[in-house]
Amino acid sequence: MKTRAAFVRKAPGQFEVGEVDLGEPRQNELLIKMSAAGLCHSDDHIATGDIPAGVYPMIGGHEGAGVVAGVGPNTPGFSEGDKVVFSFLPSCGRCRWCAAGMQNLCDLGAGLLSGGRPDDPTSFRTTMDGAPVGQMCGLGTFAEHTVVSVDNAVKVDEDLDLSKAVLTGCGVGTGWGSAVNSAAVYPGDTVIVMGVGGIGINAVQGAAHAGAANVIAVDPVAFKREKAQELGATHAAETIEEGAEIARSLTNGQGADSAIVTVGVTKGEHVAGAFAAIRKAGTCVVTGLGNITDVGLPISIGELTLFQKRLQGSLFGASNPKKDILLMLSLYKAGKLKLDELITNTYTLDDINQGYKDMHDGKNIRGVIVF
Ligand SMILES: NC(=O)c1ccc[n+]([C@@H]2O[C@H](COP(=O)([O-])OP(=O)(O)OC[C@H]3O[C@@H](n4cnc5c(N)ncnc54)[C@H](O)[C@@H]3O)[C@@H](O)[C@H]2O)c1
Ligand SMILES: [Zn+2]
Ligand SMILES: [Zn+2]
Repeated sequence: MKTRAAFVRKAPGQFEVGEVDLGEPRQNELLIKMSAAGLCHSDDHIATGDIPAGVYPMIGGHEGAGVVAGVGPNTPGFSEGDKVVFSFLPSCGRCRWCAAGMQNLCDLGAGLLSGGRPDDPTSFRTTMDGAPVGQMCGLGTFAEHTVVSVDNAVKVDEDLDLSKAVLTGCGVGTGWGSAVNSAAVYPGDTVIVMGVGGIGINAVQGAAHAGAANVIAVDPVAFKREKAQELGATHAAETIEEGAEIARSLTNGQGADSAIVTVGVTKGEHVAGAFAAIRKAGTCVVTGLGNITDVGLPISIGELTLFQKRLQGSLFGASNPKKDILLMLSLYKAGKLKLDELITNTYTLDDINQGYKDMHDGKNIRGVIVF
């Protein structure tokens, strides 16, 4: 079938909306009529080339939700009309990592930026004039229809509004899990969240949820600091140095128990600032991404060793997507996790570049395309 999609032809480049050919779902695949797609900063990394895609053109989008419109042959568990939220990470359920309760690290993740099928990276579901068109994370959610693997699909309750639930497929799970799982925030903690976008705002919510006494939101944009304070931050600062000073003033000079880096284009100096802000045996969580070829962190080796500091990377907030997306949604239903308040603006597919401009201009906590 034909469908309209937003893709980048080269990096650096902009999204362009056009028609692509979409193949039939194979076994263990679903045809989805998209309801909503979130504008995560990671898709912008594909457009800028900070994270190069395996193939161009590449359809963007990995935060998505929609309704099953077709089911591949011999594919149990799904029916037409089911509502699904995508996990941006596939989980096969069979590899070492899935078996050990670390679905976010599933071996299928290796093919994620190939643009092809995660379990068969040289085979493409979308084409244009016969040539392959990639799907970001094997999903390509910036499209009216898409075909995805059941490994990425989480069936959700019928009464959920997918234009809100969509956020659990990347931003919410990543941010909330960065605080709850990766920083292991404990009641009474002092936590710094550096960068309040779609990811960081959920680290703020997660830290507050886990019982942090102090949540210090750091962002150069005043609107972001205000939003963070509406959603659980107790303090806000413009710079990490100022945030670190607040943390020390609240902890008898010791520093934050944890600092979570969720800056849009994360650089070594950002990690160093957060690392310097934590106490002895504290944890610095790095969730943000930048230029994928960057190496080196200007941190003090002495502090790492002698203060026994911990540096912890975090992919999807160390969540188990098949369990945690449903957990996030049950917290939302119980009123304990905010989703509606995170969506600053909605867009049509054709307005996608405006959506990313608004993200860069600091106007959005999260922008969402509603189909
Ligand atoms: N690890 C993962 O699993 C994962 C998943 C999704 C996204 N990400 C990455 O997380 C990052 C954040 O994504 P997002 O969608 O929230 O981006 P975003 O652009 O919505 O938010 C980033 C925020 O960082 C702020 N910022 C910029 N410079 C700063 C500084 N020096 N100090 C403090 N704040 C600063 C910006 O003002 C903005 O509010 C991106 O790099 C994205 O690629 C990682
Ligand atoms: Zn994302
Ligand atoms: Zn697996």
